[in-house]
Amino acid sequence: MLKKLVIMTLPFLSITATAETQPPQNQYNQFYSYYQDKAKEIVNKMTLEEKIGQMTLVSISQIKNEKEGLNAIEKYNIGAILADGNDMPATPSLSDWQALSRIISSHTASTQHIPLLLGTDAVHGNQHVANAVIFPHNIGLGATHDTQLIHQIAAWTAYDVKLSGFNWAFAPTVAVVHDFRWGRTYESFGSNPNWIQNFAREYVLGAQNIDNTKHILRGVLTSTKHFMADGNTDNGIDEGNVTTTNNEQLRNENYPGYIGAFSAGTGSVMISYSSINHIPLSVNKFYLDSYLFKKDTLDPHFDGFTVSDYAAISKAARGKPFHETLANSINAGMDMIMVGQGDLYYINNDPALIDHSASLSAFQAAILYDVNLSDQDPYKISQQRIDEAVTHILQVKLAMGLFNSQQPKLIPPQGDENKIALQAAEESLVLLKNDQKGNTPAIPITAKIKHILLLSPPDYSLYDDIGTQCGGWTIKWQGMRGNKYTDENASSILTGLKKLAPANVYINANEPLLIDEYTSSNTIAIALLAEPPYTEFMGDVDNDDNGFYEINHNQLENGLFMQFDDFTLTKIKRLKEKNIPIITVLISGRPMIINHLLRSGNDSDAPLNISDAFIAAWLPGTKGGEAIANAIFGNYHFRNSETANTLPFPWPKDIKQVKTGRLVCDSIRKDSDPVPMYECGYGLAT
Ligand code: BGC
Repeated sequence: MLKKLVIMTLPFLSITATAETQPPQNQYNQFYSYYQDKAKEIVNKMTLEEKIGQMTLVSISQIKNEKEGLNAIEKYNIGAILADGNDMPATPSLSDWQALSRIISSHTASTQHIPLLLGTDAVHGNQHVANAVIFPHNIGLGATHDTQLIHQIAAWTAYDVKLSGFNWAFAPTVAVVHDFRWGRTYESFGSNPNWIQNFAREYVLGAQNIDNTKHILRGVLTSTKHFMADGNTDNGIDEGNVTTTNNEQLRNENYPGYIGAFSAGTGSVMISYSSINHIPLSVNKFYLDSYLFKKDTLDPHFDGFTVSDYAAISKAARGKPFHETLANSINAGMDMIMVGQGDLYYINNDPALIDHSASLSAFQAAILYDVNLSDQDPYKISQQRIDEAVTHILQVKLAMGLFNSQQPKLIPPQGDENKIALQAAEESLVLLKNDQKGNTPAIPITAKIKHILLLSPPDYSLYDDIGTQCGGWTIKWQGMRGNKYTDENASSILTGLKKLAPANVYINANEPLLIDEYTSSNTIAIALLAEPPYTEFMGDVDNDDNGFYEINHNQLENGLFMQFDDFTLTKIKRLKEKNIPIITVLISGRPMIINHLLRSGNDSDAPLNISDAFIAAWLPGTKGGEAIANAIFGNYHFRNSETANTLPFPWPKDIKQVKTGRLVCDSIRKDSDPVPMYECGYGLAT
């Protein structure tokens, strides 16, 4: 079977694969099952209720809502807790998180005293914690092409997660983005599956820090997500459907990230909300079997446990009784269920379930109900399947050393974390345009600049807004604007410029523009365009989704179109008359439409055309401002190889190209696919 698969995929791989993208030898194929006997020994001593508890993952707020509070962990034998998007202690300070995680971990479920997994969405640093170092989102890391850097970032993220008392990171996202209307585009490393394979491998190696000789995972457990093809849904609809008649293509275009993560021994995989040919992955036995569980045919293969996404069972149920979908999911191979408020609501509406209270007891009763069905019932969950799921989970817990009386000492990874964040932000910037005047390019700025004019109405505060630079999944689920939760190590564009600007330079946003003092040799203007923070389906745009997730996200009403408002445009035009260079910086979670080819009207008003230099900065994190200032003033020089500062996907000319869903890197482009404005790997050097 494996041979057949390899031969079938050869034409694709032969075009795109380089030596470094071949799946590396997997020394971790048996890393977790090494603990199988020990895990089974524990399972044999457990009651059915205790086993069901191990399969239950609930959020901090849900546990607190139970009438027993945190004691519900013992009562329901809970195996794992997560900080969901908006969970927070009294304040999000490190010490408050540490105190909270300490209290939670002092509760151990079941008579077997099985320690808890504590999960968090550390998708770009330990983002729930105030003053944490926030790295660029994956879209920017993709542009760095720097696998070593990604390894270091993952190691630092893992260190920070552990420091806050958590031991499981819901990362890396290895989605391959196919359509930029997708609100999670920035969580993807790009659209080249083979690059993503390498990035995923390094991320997992860095975060988990496995000591293979001692058989111990010293870092944090990773959860590679969202299996699979979450970035390939029709029209880029988050949690949507992938229509396909070609499994080989689906695999080639979406699976390599998993190969990378499996080869590094990822200990868990989160299953996607999305569907393939209308069967939600949460219950999709065919895809789970074929690409996760067939150990004899998959090399490298997955050896950890599977976990559902938040409230995914009720989302997959789509009106069918909850207990049926739950059985379908567990029988398809779901080992752990992330319970959400939606689930409790659905359970209440399932006539078969006797316990109608919206509480954890109802969820667990639903599993029990299925276990107790007759063998002939299609929704029967066998005891054997329960034992298998719990064995998978316990194997991982054992490999993490959670049962050991002494936990490994927390040793900071190499390097200075803030410097690594700065390096990542610098390497992630992509220079799309850099006009020359005579022999002098617009950037780096070499002239003695006395005036920097910032243009960004209606809101100049964007220049001093680290929250916008960080994007979604920062402190809260949807991210937050402003600098409330950052410290002096973080840098907005304003602080970055001020740090570099010589003494006689002032940042001047509001001065009248026509004063004679401003000349082309002593003044530059910086124009800032930014998407507001958003997360998941809240960031979907332009995709004509009339379904459940259609949203009125006013802030994103322009969809992928980016344009200057009239006020800024007037200023820009007057400055251009004086030959003052305009450098435009774009903060965004995806490539935007910046030359408006399909928009009628005055094309010369489009941001790309009207700027002398144009920098795509993505969501560069807490060091983003300093990185941007360094790049403009030549303290950092853009590179243009596959090592940094180049696009990890093709940049669309217009929305029509995006809507084809076939805007792909040239290496896998077919004749019928559109040719983008900028190719994968494009980026100017300075
Ligand atoms: C997201 C996951 C995330 C989970 C827990 C879900 O809504 O799809 O990526 O890990 O929430 O916060």
